[in-house]
Amino acid sequence: MISRRDFVGGAATAALGYGATTAARANAASETTLAEAGEAAGLLYGASISEEAFADPDYFALYDRETRILTTDVALKFDWLRPSPDRFEFERADAIVAAAAKSGKLVRGHTLIWNDNAPEWLKRLSAREVERVFDRHIEVVVTRYAGRLHSWDVVNEPFWPMDGEQGGWRNGPWFAAMGPSYVERAFRRTAAIDKTAKLTLNEAQCEGDHDWGRAIRPPLARLVDDLLARDVPLHAVGFQSHLQPQWPADYAQFASWAAGFGAKGLEIYLTEFDVDDQSFPDDPAARKAAVAQTGAKFLGAILKTRAVKMLVNWQLSDRYSWYRELWRRRAPASRRKPSPLPFDDRLEPNPLHAAMIGSFLAR
Ligand code: XIL
Repeated sequence: MISRRDFVGGAATAALGYGATTAARANAASETTLAEAGEAAGLLYGASISEEAFADPDYFALYDRETRILTTDVALKFDWLRPSPDRFEFERADAIVAAAAKSGKLVRGHTLIWNDNAPEWLKRLSAREVERVFDRHIEVVVTRYAGRLHSWDVVNEPFWPMDGEQGGWRNGPWFAAMGPSYVERAFRRTAAIDKTAKLTLNEAQCEGDHDWGRAIRPPLARLVDDLLARDVPLHAVGFQSHLQPQWPADYAQFASWAAGFGAKGLEIYLTEFDVDDQSFPDDPAARKAAVAQTGAKFLGAILKTRAVKMLVNWQLSDRYSWYRELWRRRAPASRRKPSPLPFDDRLEPNPLHAAMIGSFLAR
């Protein structure tokens, strides 16, 4: 373990002055792992993981070295788990939980309830049937992993103003059948079965200072107050942290707003961190430097909040980022490849890696 004191000089400088960073400093930064630097900063560091890691031993080894906690990327999403009404396909999630246990890592379950990712069969059911599926899904899935997860994203993305629902709620089968009460129901039913997982309300877009972020923050804060006032077992708020620097952002303002959840006794998790580089230059080196700078700016602001206990990247290497697929769809003719993560295609550290370590150790 490299101590915070030994390390803080080199890595912090590397992150701050990225444009002028020497190769020597970058190398020094890449010698420590994100897990180690996170630990020195009181931060649990991890990444989401999917089947690709099990088919690519080098990628798997990177998780082994760099992370302390793994998030099930798609494995526990409703449509992946429930291709038909009577099937629960647990193989993917079981493999992640078993691998984590073997290497002493923690696991986050993502996501138990989400109004997105509904299979066609669910959409065809009546409201009463949807409620029954909801309760049974929670019972079966939570029971299977009870006591083995660090935390559960019990509800993902409760708000989605674009759906046009009053109050900004995200629409979908659960909301349509139960209205806003599905949130409380999910938390209470999960807590009744799993007594140790930290139960998390995970939300998107709050990091940005754009119409979307501004529309979601107030109802999210009201929902949290309401749940706490009624003693609903809620332990943490998750901010996805898919940074989109093409839109306005004020990370200091986000950080002071987020700190309010800490003041209510909740932990704060940054659950899906990556940096969308679509507005940055084509030149890969310039683009990666801009990604690192954005990451350092965000982390520099939000990590001042002591209630932030965890940072998770959405995958670990650019090779497997969800932005690759989004980019292929958005710009099929482009040869440019998004680079939103701490490791590049060859699994070598990107400038973002050193920037993250610098931000952790400057905490
Ligand atoms: C992503 C997955 O990683 C992709 O494989 C899939 O195609 C789309 O969803 N917010 C979330 C995650 O909460 O579940 C999403 O994951 C990324 C955005």
